[in-house]
Amino acid sequence: MTLLIAGRSGQLARALTAAAKARGLPAFALGRSEMDLADPASVRAAVARLRPAIVINTAAFTAVDDAETRKADAFAINAAGAGALAAAAHGAGARLVHVSTDYVFGTGAGPRLEGDPVWPLNVYGASKLEGERRVAAAHPRALIVRTSGVFSATGQNFVTAMLRLAGTREEIGVVDDQRTTPTPADALAGLLLDLARDPRPYGLLHAAGMEAVSWAGFAQTIFEGARERGLPHARVRPIPSSQFPRPARRPADSALGSIRLRGLAGVDGLDWRAGLARALDALAAAR
Ligand SMILES: NC(=O)c1ccc[n+]([C@@H]2O[C@H](COP(=O)([O-])OP(=O)(O)OC[C@H]3O[C@@H](n4cnc5c(N)ncnc54)[C@H](OP(=O)(O)O)[C@@H]3O)[C@@H](O)[C@H]2O)c1
Repeated sequence: MTLLIAGRSGQLARALTAAAKARGLPAFALGRSEMDLADPASVRAAVARLRPAIVINTAAFTAVDDAETRKADAFAINAAGAGALAAAAHGAGARLVHVSTDYVFGTGAGPRLEGDPVWPLNVYGASKLEGERRVAAAHPRALIVRTSGVFSATGQNFVTAMLRLAGTREEIGVVDDQRTTPTPADALAGLLLDLARDPRPYGLLHAAGMEAVSWAGFAQTIFEGARERGLPHARVRPIPSSQFPRPARRPADSALGSIRLRGLAGVDGLDWRAGLARALDALAAAR
């Protein structure tokens, strides 16, 4: 049961590689040098070569602010590339799990459920939404999993960014008027593998942290855990997002909820506090 993971050095790709190894599943994680989503021929060639039973697509243009000025690149990878991979997986008879984002949602309040209306506020979100549509069109049995605020002990994410900043400042301004559901990459990877090995679920599914929190609240929790472990920590100064302008507009509340997850996985969401403790333990052990 060969598993092809699109993405290699990304945080979710790495977590999936580790989870597959722990379960004894043969997995090939392909970075962009082996399979470039912007190049459909390389996507078809990789799928034809590996003949996977399961494809999990974690690869994406994820630089939300850069996407505003690199719209063509974001759409080539997140929309056309995702569609090309879905078509290749369908052609090979492979199960497909495609990862999408809470940023398909716009104004309004969370928790956002699978059937809620989508209205992306930025180019990244629009490109990922177009990706969802192309994936569903190319692979009618694809499972499309939207997640949010993914973090781990490695890679670029909110946890590693906060600890890096805390190494240089005593106080950090963090936005307090935008809410998310933080999601531990390792727990999400385990869930995605379980869902990928069950051929039945398809369509849209939300899978994210269980409890919504503002970014400032999340930062405070990160620093409490960091202090306990002797890791860099700082005071959090809650600020409105108007004081932290960025190129891409973000939704004020893109916390995800699910009407399907309990039936499929027996949980309503992932425990991000436990996931944060694991990530901080790993960072403390690596010092
Ligand atoms: N991070 C979040 O907070 C968050 C929130 C919601 C949804 N998501 C979604 O979750 C998924 C995984 O995100 P992540 O946090 O693991 O992202 P990440 O750490 O930024 O990793 C991105 C991955 O995409 C690959 N990639 C980029 N351009 C590519 C291309 N042209 N061809 C092939 N691969 C390419 C990278 O390849 P290399 O291995 O070669 O570097 C890398 O493995 C994405 O679909 C993202 O949209 C993430």
